[in-house]
Amino acid sequence: MAKKITVMGTGYVGLISAVGLADFGHTVTGVDISQPVVDKLNAGEPHIFETGLRDYLQKNLNSGRLRFSTDIKDAIKLSEVVLISVGTPPKEDGSADLTQLLRAAKEIKRNAAGHKVVVIKSTVPVGTNRTVLDMFNTNGCDIDVVSNPEFLREGKAIQDFFHPDRIILGVESERAKAVMEDIYRSLYLIQTPFVWCNLETAELIKYSSNAFLANKVTFINQMANLAEVVGADIHDIAKAMGMDGRISSKFLHPGPGFGGSCFPKDIKALVSMGEKFGVDMSLVREVIRANEAQKQLMISKLKGMLGDLKHKTVAVLGLAFKAETDDVRESPAISIVAGLLHEDCRINAHDPIATRNFSGLFPDINYCEDEYEALQKADALIICTEWNEYRNLDLHKVKQNMKGNVILDTRNLLNREQVRQRGFIYQGVGR
Ligand SMILES: NC(=O)c1ccc[n+]([C@@H]2O[C@H](COP(=O)([O-])OP(=O)(O)OC[C@H]3O[C@@H](n4cnc5c(N)ncnc54)[C@H](O)[C@@H]3O)[C@@H](O)[C@H]2O)c1
Repeated sequence: MAKKITVMGTGYVGLISAVGLADFGHTVTGVDISQPVVDKLNAGEPHIFETGLRDYLQKNLNSGRLRFSTDIKDAIKLSEVVLISVGTPPKEDGSADLTQLLRAAKEIKRNAAGHKVVVIKSTVPVGTNRTVLDMFNTNGCDIDVVSNPEFLREGKAIQDFFHPDRIILGVESERAKAVMEDIYRSLYLIQTPFVWCNLETAELIKYSSNAFLANKVTFINQMANLAEVVGADIHDIAKAMGMDGRISSKFLHPGPGFGGSCFPKDIKALVSMGEKFGVDMSLVREVIRANEAQKQLMISKLKGMLGDLKHKTVAVLGLAFKAETDDVRESPAISIVAGLLHEDCRINAHDPIATRNFSGLFPDINYCEDEYEALQKADALIICTEWNEYRNLDLHKVKQNMKGNVILDTRNLLNREQVRQRGFIYQGVGR
């Protein structure tokens, strides 16, 4: 049965969920505290980049099943189900900042009349769902809480919403279970696996999954560093490892360290949870340290190739934390650009879509319209994001535009033989 749903927070997770649930036939109001964001969305313009999102947004706005509003009160009153997908950024000490989430929960409690199912999609430390449930169930409120952590990958978020590997549902009442079955009926029909569990298990599944993947990336980065020193090729190693079904080939790509809005903050939050409950999380703690070291290693590598970096012009291609997204949160390019600025380099930066977000962090570097403009008179080129368009750089043009001949390819995108034949000094990672 179609439901009336409010989605609180229309960022990467909330907007995709709102659009996707409307596409399933539900009536959805996406609520955000930002008026400019809401205005843009009502006009059919996504405020974030995600492949296919604009089409889905416009289609569902036109169907009349989707709208956006800043009127939280009204939206909550009219809905049977409220999804919370607000941000849970890291605090100084690494623990998750729950200010947005608790504010949203208070808003729901204040405006709920009758039974509601509140679905927490935000990534929250173990115990948060129960705290919210306890907070609701005072003063005769009738609210169920469901923990439904999100696993979408930015850049592939629409595809992941409609074809998830699994749906995790921490549900502790039959009434809420029936509502969740209705909400996700379309996925049930295509035989998506559903994992039903308690609130704490659902919360910890999310952190365990992210920490495991962050471990895998860090592991292959360290193996890449060793391969480089001993004369082995990390691509052959990763390929062979991936052929082992127990390991799988995913997340075995060496690079400048992982970034993004999830892995870094979630593993920090996991360490903080370990501390709170007195449990050893040394492996995860080491991943945080090693990942930071991997980013710094890129600066050392460039130094090794260029000699002194002082007053050198460096073209930085790629600012997003990965390809196909405009998200720059914790992007390796942030550490790399900061490191280069620390060495008094001049920076020409380019990214197909993330420039606007990056310029909020570094307003004073030189942003370029295209990759060849960024290469003008550059002493060195460093590729930071695996955008497809950088794979096919016209090496003749690169040579013509650059002053120097140093290329550090932190994503192993270029054909190193061809690059070296053109007279460049080239290094990738782990080869
Ligand atoms: N981005 C991802 O790839 C991803 C994937 C899985 C899980 N998550 C988790 O999902 C959550 C949301 O992540 P995101 O990247 O979408 O965050 P985001 O920062 O992009 O979006 C959060 C939105 O919530 C809005 N907001 C804040 N307080 C609000 C309130 N009281 N009412 C209404 N709106 C409010 C903000 O204005 C913002 O637009 C986080 O917990 C994150 O860890 C994110």
